[in-house]
Amino acid sequence: MAKQAVLIINGPNLDQLGTREPEIYGHMSLADIEAMCHERAAENNISINFMQSNAEDAIIAAIHNARQDGTKAIIINAAAFTHTSVAIRDAMQMFDGIRIEVHLSNVFAREAFRHHSYLADIANGVICGFGANSYRLAIDAVGNILQSKD
Ligand code: DQA
Repeated sequence: MAKQAVLIINGPNLDQLGTREPEIYGHMSLADIEAMCHERAAENNISINFMQSNAEDAIIAAIHNARQDGTKAIIINAAAFTHTSVAIRDAMQMFDGIRIEVHLSNVFAREAFRHHSYLADIANGVICGFGANSYRLAIDAVGNILQSKD
């Protein structure tokens, strides 16, 4: 069976992981997380496309592209844009596939402004608070949903 394509989007400041507030976000770099995601994806017969941008327009363009190229699911850590961006929400809403929101930290245990997400109510599910493992859990969730659709 051909591998199903999944896009993993990382928003602003996540390129600084490893040295960015490690007490909150852990010690893994984004490259470490990407390698971990590729490993887990292979176990789920999924191929992943992993991107990071600090710019809202690049994230929106990637979502638009995913609408055209056969991508089955988007896993998104929109970082701070989670709490601010109606534009990313609108783009995600146009995407017809599976949508999973992830965060490294438990945003609900943090400042009140992080408790609201523009993406949560249009997502299949939200995974937060498990550090880099949130990504692994999200890949497993996508794998389960895709399998149940077979
Ligand atoms: C984050 C949580 C956001 O509130 C924050 O702005 C981030 C990272 C997380 O993965 O825990 O940049 O999305």
